[in-house]
Amino acid sequence: MNMAAEDQKRAAAGAAVAEVADGMVVGLGTGSTAAFAIEALGRRVRDGLAITAVATSERTAAAAAAAGIRVIDMGEVAALDLAIDGVDEIDPWCHAIKGAGGAMLREKVIAAAARRMVAIADASKPVEQLGARPVPLEVLPLARAFVARAIAELGGAAVLRTDAAGAPIATDGGNPILDASFGPIEDAAALAAALSAVPGILGHGLFVSEIDAVYVAGTSGVECRTR
Ligand code: 5RP
Repeated sequence: MNMAAEDQKRAAAGAAVAEVADGMVVGLGTGSTAAFAIEALGRRVRDGLAITAVATSERTAAAAAAAGIRVIDMGEVAALDLAIDGVDEIDPWCHAIKGAGGAMLREKVIAAAARRMVAIADASKPVEQLGARPVPLEVLPLARAFVARAIAELGGAAVLRTDAAGAPIATDGGNPILDASFGPIEDAAALAAALSAVPGILGHGLFVSEIDAVYVAGTSGVECRTR
């Protein structure tokens, strides 16, 4: 079997959704792979599965509601059973870069609140070492220049994320995003701790402890890798 990237995303998402059981509170990720999980979960809900969900973005909340999934306010939820989300890069230890879709802060909160978090990935996402892609940062608007300087002091380079017209892209929280490139990341945990310590960085897309397992779909099927 030779699966195209779309089919791989659908297959990985389906494997993760098979973990969902009656009564669970489920965290729903953001992005094209997570969208397949929402579709698959919606089908199971229409078949009688009773769950509630929290969403990592406004677009995910809208997609989940459209799929018939009951979405509740994450502000009311201290812990959840399972989070399912995509990744931009994931290494063999389940360290990951997330946030190409700009949802990394809400994704981090939901991942941290989840008793189990599973990532879902097509074959383009696993890497031996993180860092080919930038680490997205959600920043307090007034801290933008300061955070860019702090990133330079950490050996990186931060670029403001803008749309095609050059206007800053805001997160669902209304904050700007800096994409911070570091090159190959030798010690993801140390970098994550350093980023977390910079005042003005509200959240970053380096996930070093949240992900328990990843379903990776390749040309010959889906494999579950744990850390
Ligand atoms: C959004 C994310 C996404 O999960 C990540 O960018 C992967 O997206 P896709 O499944 O579309 O490749 O972190 O903030």
